[in-house]
Amino acid sequence: MLADKDRIFTNLYGYQSWHIDAAMARGDWDDTKALMARGQDAIIDDVKASGLRGRGGAGFPTGMKWSFMPKEPKPGKPNFLVINADESEPGSCKDREIIRHDPHKLIEGALIAGFAMRARAAYIYIRGEYIREAQVLFAAVREAYDKGFLGKNACGSGYDFDVFVHRGAGAYICGEETAMLESLEGHKGQPRLKPPFPAGAGLYGCPTTVNNVESIAVVPTILRRGPAWFASIGRPKNEGTKLFQISGHVNKPCVVEEAMSIPFRELIDKHCGGIRGGWDNLLAVIPGGSSVPLVPAAQIIDCPMDFDALKDLKSGLGTAAVIVMDKSTDVVRAISRLSYFYKHESCGQCTPCREGTGWMWRVMERLRTGEAEIEEIDTLEEVTKQVEGHTICALGDAAAWPIQGLIRHFRPELERRIVERRGELSFAQAAE
Ligand SMILES: Cc1cc2nc3c(=O)[nH]c(=O)nc-3n(C[C@H](O)[C@H](O)[C@H](O)COP(=O)(O)O)c2cc1C
Ligand code: SF4
Repeated sequence: MLADKDRIFTNLYGYQSWHIDAAMARGDWDDTKALMARGQDAIIDDVKASGLRGRGGAGFPTGMKWSFMPKEPKPGKPNFLVINADESEPGSCKDREIIRHDPHKLIEGALIAGFAMRARAAYIYIRGEYIREAQVLFAAVREAYDKGFLGKNACGSGYDFDVFVHRGAGAYICGEETAMLESLEGHKGQPRLKPPFPAGAGLYGCPTTVNNVESIAVVPTILRRGPAWFASIGRPKNEGTKLFQISGHVNKPCVVEEAMSIPFRELIDKHCGGIRGGWDNLLAVIPGGSSVPLVPAAQIIDCPMDFDALKDLKSGLGTAAVIVMDKSTDVVRAISRLSYFYKHESCGQCTPCREGTGWMWRVMERLRTGEAEIEEIDTLEEVTKQVEGHTICALGDAAAWPIQGLIRHFRPELERRIVERRGELSFAQAAE
């Protein structure tokens, strides 16, 4: 369990003020100039050494990503940092806590990360529904300007850096990094074909790095406490502290900062008061937000909650949005509802996603009611594989994976519904 002294987000629950004076009393903006004076490459090296992997879902090493940015921006082609505060993945609600209660960690992180990547400015793209959060963010950025921490000669470092806050209009797809760039430019939020990758041609065709809010907000503390401290938490290749967001059938749902790799059972017992109805009542868990396949109870109970352990279970840590389902859950209905979400949020650019998400949802609905044929389970699985990996962006994969997880682990339940619906046999008779 993470010791209090190792917590980065010391105002996660908003018990203290988010304003700049309170943030400074907690250690934010403490001699930021000295951190910057270490030099751009030294900062990138420290972030690499800390083992930080992106907190937006894919877990790509942050320091390595930063090193892809040009070290000498061309005239008229400044580097940019874009911070992804779209947080629209069902189950995810951690960036929200950072923004509304600890915004200066993010803003200081934006300056340091932007400086390290030789960026001219950072754009924070915040989801439209986060109205109060956006108000806090706008005000916190203003406070930082007023103190001279942003703008010309930011923090007295000699480096000029601006932070802009941009509100989205409520589309999940705008969380995908290239759709976000399109949206920032004022276009329809539709993902771009890659390559070119944003580090080559991103915002307004300029070199750009997109990072998640949490990835950026932890950077000042990593530099202050040293990369070895961060790397000492969690398992190798899965280092650091992590914000977990636990929802569903636990006694006390919460957002909590914990050590990466904490076993699932410990996470739930220590912070959520256990599973509703006790551990025997656990059915399955979606460990990383709606895009990742569910994991049945027996497999997840002792699993370390990190990127690699969950990948080994054919799932993923994603954003660490842990959705717990007890035995009262209609698991087919739950996954069908997610299929509807992906159908609704598909931007429609590519045929496998545009047509496939609707098709998959319709079959899922018939599986839910038992009106499908048994053979359709295999057909559905086959279609998920034709969508997966055959689209411009990962929304296609995100629509396919939850269904694949359901078929992998709950095929008997799907078959039971069909058999019972037909009225030919009861489940008990079928089992005989
Ligand atoms: C459909 C879709 C939605 C996404 N939504 C988010 C999001 O809300 N927040 C986020 O940080 N990343 C989201 N991502 C991942 C981003 O594309 C990108 O990988 C991430 O912001 C990179 O940040 P990181 O390297 O710090 O993790 C989404 C990806 C896809 C395909
Ligand atoms: S996969 Fe779906 S959301 Fe992504 S670009 Fe294609 S149609 Fe749009």
